[in-house]
Amino acid sequence: MTREEKARLNSFVAKNVNLLLEEKGMTQRELAEKVGKSEAEVSRWLTGRNGFSKTAIARLSVALGHDITTRPVGLGTGGNTDNIVKHGNRKVALITGVTGQDGSYLSEFLLEKGYEVHGIIRRSSVDFRERIAHLEGRPNFHLHYADMSDSMSIVKVIDTVRPDEVYNLAAQSHVQVSFDSPEFTADVDAVGVLRVLEAVRACHLEQTCRIYQASTSELYGKVEQVPQNENTPFHPYSPYAVAKLYGFWIVKEYREAYNMFCCSGILFNHESERRGETFVTRKITLAAARIAQGHQDCLWLGNLSSLRDWGYAKDYVECMWLILQQDKPEDFVIATGVQHSVREFCYEAFKCAGITLEFSGEGLEEKGICVAGPKNLVGKTLVAVSEDFYRPTDVVNLWGDPTKAKAKLKWNPNKTSFEQLVELMVKHDMAKVAGEGAAMKVRTNLAEYLEKGIVR
Ligand code: NAP
Ligand code: GDD
Repeated sequence: MTREEKARLNSFVAKNVNLLLEEKGMTQRELAEKVGKSEAEVSRWLTGRNGFSKTAIARLSVALGHDITTRPVGLGTGGNTDNIVKHGNRKVALITGVTGQDGSYLSEFLLEKGYEVHGIIRRSSVDFRERIAHLEGRPNFHLHYADMSDSMSIVKVIDTVRPDEVYNLAAQSHVQVSFDSPEFTADVDAVGVLRVLEAVRACHLEQTCRIYQASTSELYGKVEQVPQNENTPFHPYSPYAVAKLYGFWIVKEYREAYNMFCCSGILFNHESERRGETFVTRKITLAAARIAQGHQDCLWLGNLSSLRDWGYAKDYVECMWLILQQDKPEDFVIATGVQHSVREFCYEAFKCAGITLEFSGEGLEEKGICVAGPKNLVGKTLVAVSEDFYRPTDVVNLWGDPTKAKAKLKWNPNKTSFEQLVELMVKHDMAKVAGEGAAMKVRTNLAEYLEKGIVR
């Protein structure tokens, strides 16, 4: 058998075992016990990191009650499998950035569609996988160590997984942090995209594997037109945006040069209960909850007049998938078409927490004062402005035009309204703060750091 044939057999057998596990509702641990191996060893088989010896095939076949070298017939697949199960086989997706806000929602979405989902995680001293903890251990969900700054690791994972679709979501995604770490941002957000494209080519998958690139409305930066659509000129206005611009163009280049099915979704801001705590929306909803419950005195922000087109992340991951299901590879703007200021987001979030704010003053002197709500808060300044949160160059007028996505992807950009989005985030954070109890001291410190501008 050639190396290629062996790899194909291993991946075929691994997929069969995954299908059978799901069909039988058996966990990897239970299978490991049945075949007398460690769970880690079983996981290595199932993710294609270890090949199957003849003995392993025999033992697994007995444990699963089926010859795992032949395709199981008539298996239930679970979830909505429209257009997914090819020849009784699952589609395989690889997600970089699986631990992030979007990666976690996309994993859920693809698992529900019947995909086998693989995600890339990177080593860190704290094992922070809160957003995907509920998915770990599922038969069709697998994690691999790799890093966007390490080409070899990306090639290895792609060679092992042999994905039908890659969703490249990994990035240093905080705009303000990109001013502090511009080189790292360029390495991961720009060259990282190139590494993924080249890895797909190196594994000879360029004609079969479709690639989604997480592009961004930050490309419009110092905007030259409102609202922004697929034809609006780009004017990136931060190291993050400049790096993402490279990602956008290299994807377009590989599409044209090598006829690859690779596309960018130009996504406008999308938020959720899982949003990172230093992005403005989550910073506001957490602070509103803490202030309402007496754990924080004041919320310090930067530019309150900045305008964004905010959508719900859970709605947006559907578009990533839809973009890869089209007949032709194309780029799409994904947005709600509705614009609000940071000030309006604040007003709405505090309202959901039972506090009415009134804003007065300008620039650094602007204040949000409580005019109705809990007695002890009325008359107090609950929102103030700090220079610490101003950016060297700030993008202040993002407003997307989702006409193309509506027409071609048949996607509804207004599934979740601005008010619903704010409400669901505040509700979540009210419960989170109420439940923190013992951890409250840590949270209070975080609030203090936020106030002092140490954590942006
Ligand atoms: P996020 O929550 O910050 O998640 C970023 C992900 O990238 C995390 O899983 C992170 O891993 C991973 N990552 C960062 N550096 C890495 C590296 N060197 N190697 C491997 N993984 C790395 O971001 P998000 O909001 O989900 O956004 C997803 C993507 O969409 C990003 O590319 C972002 O730039 C883009 N985007 C986001 C929005 C938005 O409004 N959310 C809008 C437009 C575009 P750790 O968990 O280990 O840090
Ligand atoms: N983070 C933060 N913190 N932003 C603040 C604050 C604050 O205290 N005060 C005001 N802002 C303003 C920022 O200056 C910016 O104009 C706006 O609020 C939104 O900031 P973020 O929530 O940090 O998001 P972003 O728009 O810069 O970037 C996000 O959206 C992009 C898509 O447009 C990120 O998710 C990027 O990864 C994404 O590409």
